[in-house]
Amino acid sequence: MRIIGTGSVLPETTVTNDMLSQFLETDDEWISSRTGIKTRQVVTNESFEELSAKAVMAAVEDSNINLEDIDLFICSSTMSPYLTPAFSCVVSEILGLNCRCFDINAGCSGFISALEIANSYLKSDSATRVLILCAENMTRMVDWTDRSTCVLFGDGIGAVIVDAEDSFLSITSGRYDNGDSLVMKSPGGNSPFMPKDEDNHYLVMKGRDVFKKAIEAINHDLKKAVFESKVMIEKINHFLLHQANLRIIASAAKSLKVPIKKFRNNISNRGNTSSASVPILIDELNKSGLLKQGDIIAMAVFGAGFLSGASVFKWAK
Ligand code: UT7
Repeated sequence: MRIIGTGSVLPETTVTNDMLSQFLETDDEWISSRTGIKTRQVVTNESFEELSAKAVMAAVEDSNINLEDIDLFICSSTMSPYLTPAFSCVVSEILGLNCRCFDINAGCSGFISALEIANSYLKSDSATRVLILCAENMTRMVDWTDRSTCVLFGDGIGAVIVDAEDSFLSITSGRYDNGDSLVMKSPGGNSPFMPKDEDNHYLVMKGRDVFKKAIEAINHDLKKAVFESKVMIEKINHFLLHQANLRIIASAAKSLKVPIKKFRNNISNRGNTSSASVPILIDELNKSGLLKQGDIIAMAVFGAGFLSGASVFKWAK
């Protein structure tokens, strides 16, 4: 598998930490020092599906292919405006794309899961070019009265297109631990046969627990992915981690004994965009010319489930 093109789209509205402190008991100093986040982009009156379609078209253009060349479309989404149909169907309708499509929900780890699925299709000759869209409308999911979660997230969409050339050196994923540290229950409906729905339908998070598990999972997965890639860790040019907290990134760098400058990040102005965070980061690095042909990239993701994964690949666009 090889990434042949990338695209991303962020909604227009920027929300600063100071804006949050207008209605929450929080401040820029707390949010910046504990997370590294300064601003995030949020959906207001835009159509999330139209923004997603734009991200796909940006990836198609970057790939120098035609939309019709895509024969499988996988969408990773923890939260989109639709429970059904699959968000990939909604975006396909806008684009006039008629290939096979389906959604996956592997929380913030969805990008790696989608890549693993794409890899299997490509390896078995069941697809030739796969579109992966990570579309995350996280601001619909959080409780905007809960300062311990809502300050962390932003909305965003990242897309990549992969083909069957050989540039992925390793890819691994798994369920790392129990899943009770990041939970959102779906609405219970009004079935007369069930007890009245009294659940909270916002994201509930055990922040410290996630923090600890994230560092353990990154360490475990990255070491495994690097070992299986047969690349010396010193030879890796860029480390791209799920953008959840700058302190998690710094801890990972320290325990892996890799200079922090190799850990690219955009969390300060994106916040946590769940499974879209790494593809958005890849697109920003790609478009700013920071990825050179032959560069070795290691990525690691983690999130609800508790799912995590990592991969090492060569930039060969
Ligand atoms: O994709 C994965 C998604 N989730 C994550 O990655 C979350 C991982 N966890 C984290 O990033 C960190 O645990 C947080 C940023 C969520 C919290 O940082 P922390 O250093 O672990 O803080 P804490 O939860 O231990 O809370 C410390 C204090 C508490 O007050 P008391 O009990 O010490 O008086 C909180 O109530 O900070 C308080 N607090 C806040 N204060 C101001 C929590 N949120 C805020 C806030 N502003 N926004």
